[in-house]
Amino acid sequence: MSSSILKATNVSKIYELEGVEVKALININLDIKQGEFVAIVGPSGSGKSTLMHLIGALDTPTTGKIIIDGENISKANEKELAKIRNQKVGFVFQQFNLLSKTPAWQNVEIPLIYSGMTSRTKRENLCKQMLEKVGLADKLYNHPNQLSGGQQQRVAIARALINNPAIILADEPTGALDSKTGKEILQMFKDLNKKEGRTIIMVTHDLDLAEQAQRQIKIKDGEVVDHF
Ligand SMILES: Nc1ncnc2c1ncn2[C@@H]1O[C@H](COP(=O)(O)OP(=O)(O)OP(=O)(O)O)[C@@H](O)[C@H]1O
Ligand SMILES: [Mg+2]
Repeated sequence: MSSSILKATNVSKIYELEGVEVKALININLDIKQGEFVAIVGPSGSGKSTLMHLIGALDTPTTGKIIIDGENISKANEKELAKIRNQKVGFVFQQFNLLSKTPAWQNVEIPLIYSGMTSRTKRENLCKQMLEKVGLADKLYNHPNQLSGGQQQRVAIARALINNPAIILADEPTGALDSKTGKEILQMFKDLNKKEGRTIIMVTHDLDLAEQAQRQIKIKDGEVVDHF
């Protein structure tokens, strides 16, 4: 039995906007083990991104407890959350979220700078190795607008991996890509999971992609309705 890398206990998230409460998540319980590849599915507005924000330490729950790789984020302050985000989590987003006027390798180095690696040579070497790993050895100096969508997402994956995080979180990572490129990105996640034992949690609308994960968690109206 492998160990728990993410545990959410009775987690709820209520947003308040101009006096109106939105119950985005209600009483969520999750236990994700090291080395799992989990897909989160559910209709638009069901709370998937909210859940990803919480388990990625971008936000804290209104009630309940979240433990990421042994760190309790529920009561963490901003500074502690930033540290957990930098060290425990790698994010991949639908829209890549890269700095557009910055070469690929300097997008990848950002988490290294935040974690205090002061040697530029060291950072550059690590980033080059990581970009080689995701198949971009010949694109180190391209800016994102000089790359295809699939290549931009590979840069984002390299950036997510660079600090060797406990969990990779991907929110609709194939949503902005054509289906062939989307399949290639999914294959990259499958390889990272299988060959390196990376723990991956991926939100997707695409049920064909979700089926390729080891486990699916279905969310509806802020509640987990199915594990399968
Ligand atoms: N910052 C916020 N303030 C107020 N309400 C919010 C906020 N973020 C999300 N919501 C609301 O919380 C609910 C869940 O939103 P969320 O973005 O988690 O859904 P989702 O499942 O990711 O949807 P989609 O598939 O469209 O991305 C929605 O009703 C949304 O309007
Ligand atoms: Mg979303």
